[in-house]
Amino acid sequence: MSDTNKTATLTIDGKSYDLPILSPSAGPDVIDIRKLYGQADVFTYDPGFTSTASCDSSITYIDGEEGVLLHRGYPIDQLAGKSHFLEVCYLLLYGELPSSAQLEDFEKRVTMHTMVHEQMHRFFTGFRRDAHPMAVMVGVVGAMSAFYHDSTDIHDPWQREVASIRLIAKMPTIAAMAYKYNIGQPFVYPRNDLDYASNFLRMCFSVPAEEYVPDPILSRAMDRIFTLHADHEQNASTSTVRLASSSGANPFACIAAGIACLWGPAHGGANQAALECLKEIGSVDRIPEFIAKAKDPDDNFRLMGFGHRVYKNFDPRAKVMKQSADEVLDLLGVENNPILAVAKELEKQALEDEYFIKRKLFPNVDFYSGIILEAMGFPTSMFTPIFALSRTVGWISQWKEMIEDPSMKIGRPRQLYTGATLRDYVDVEKR
Ligand code: CMC
Repeated sequence: MSDTNKTATLTIDGKSYDLPILSPSAGPDVIDIRKLYGQADVFTYDPGFTSTASCDSSITYIDGEEGVLLHRGYPIDQLAGKSHFLEVCYLLLYGELPSSAQLEDFEKRVTMHTMVHEQMHRFFTGFRRDAHPMAVMVGVVGAMSAFYHDSTDIHDPWQREVASIRLIAKMPTIAAMAYKYNIGQPFVYPRNDLDYASNFLRMCFSVPAEEYVPDPILSRAMDRIFTLHADHEQNASTSTVRLASSSGANPFACIAAGIACLWGPAHGGANQAALECLKEIGSVDRIPEFIAKAKDPDDNFRLMGFGHRVYKNFDPRAKVMKQSADEVLDLLGVENNPILAVAKELEKQALEDEYFIKRKLFPNVDFYSGIILEAMGFPTSMFTPIFALSRTVGWISQWKEMIEDPSMKIGRPRQLYTGATLRDYVDVEKR
């Protein structure tokens, strides 16, 4: 961030205030209003943060108009095509691509932390069997602060590092355990000879009676899902993690807050909602009826998995994800799956429809990731936990960046108050 020598002038009741304009390395300039309140008796108003930069960050850059997503400068399609999830984790956390020795060391450190404290198994069994795996994830990840006391001091760089590695390493184990618990099968321990994605698939699909050996194409597709969800700048859950952390709360509690925010259907919950929407449509001949519902201003039905707050031309993650979806569907031979047939036809019809074209609504990453996960055999309730495990590295990288910034302040927005003004208390018998 640099000063531009440019200023914006704000005039209120004839009095002018010069506001500095700061330049980012890419993207629009920002008007620095930090000192406005104090000089003038006004706040700025931006619910939904559509015009507000909440922090400065050097991790991820998005150009929504051009469909650009860069991690530390590297385009997402190159990372998804040439790299793999753990290397992207290193890049997000430390800022540069690792040398082969650094990568080997990082992978080893993550691998050595994949098991969870044995007592956590009992913590799981306190949940109802039919609990949503996201409910279990919020609880169990929050509870990590009760199990790993030696990595909760945010002022100690070593503890921050251990907490980061623990979260990245244990999240697949926790997500797989949430799944196994839900379906009534025994937990499967992680195996250190498998790569990150294959290990997760095995922990989900192996049973003591039969070892699951993931097909490399499926492991690759799983790894891509992780990579494509790894970070996405200041989205709702990341902003939640930052706000929670700004009070000095421990990282496990903050990541649990991020998971809670991600759960909503307008954010990470969209992958589950998208597949459920396809199931509700049910057959190709009912697509026009649902497209009409989505277009009806008096009906609040939306086609889940379509549209994005930031991307207004295409979602660069969806492009890569679509390619993966085709590969997985080819491998598994699920062309006859009616849900997937609906997905393919819905995509085609919506992309040709004037309503969707005009509003720049196109399938987003969650539309295709849902299709892949359905084809792999995951129930819809596992879609959002998989998003949460992938996004953990992004949350952690943003948390680390914020904590390491000496100018960090507690996040404390103000408001446009619309309630009653000062009035006197009235005794109950007089009301
Ligand atoms: N189906 C039908 N109409 C839609 C949809 C949709 N999925 N999304 C937006 N619209 C319409 C909306 O009704 C409005 O129309 P009008 O101008 O006539 O009132 C217009 O498009 C603009 O909508 P908006 O709600 O102002 O747009 P937004 O930028 O605030 O919302 C969104 C973005 C993602 C919340 C929204 O597109 C949506 O609800 N999509 C479905 C949920 C979804 O797939 N979310 C996942 C996003 S990708 C994963 C992630 O990053 O978390």
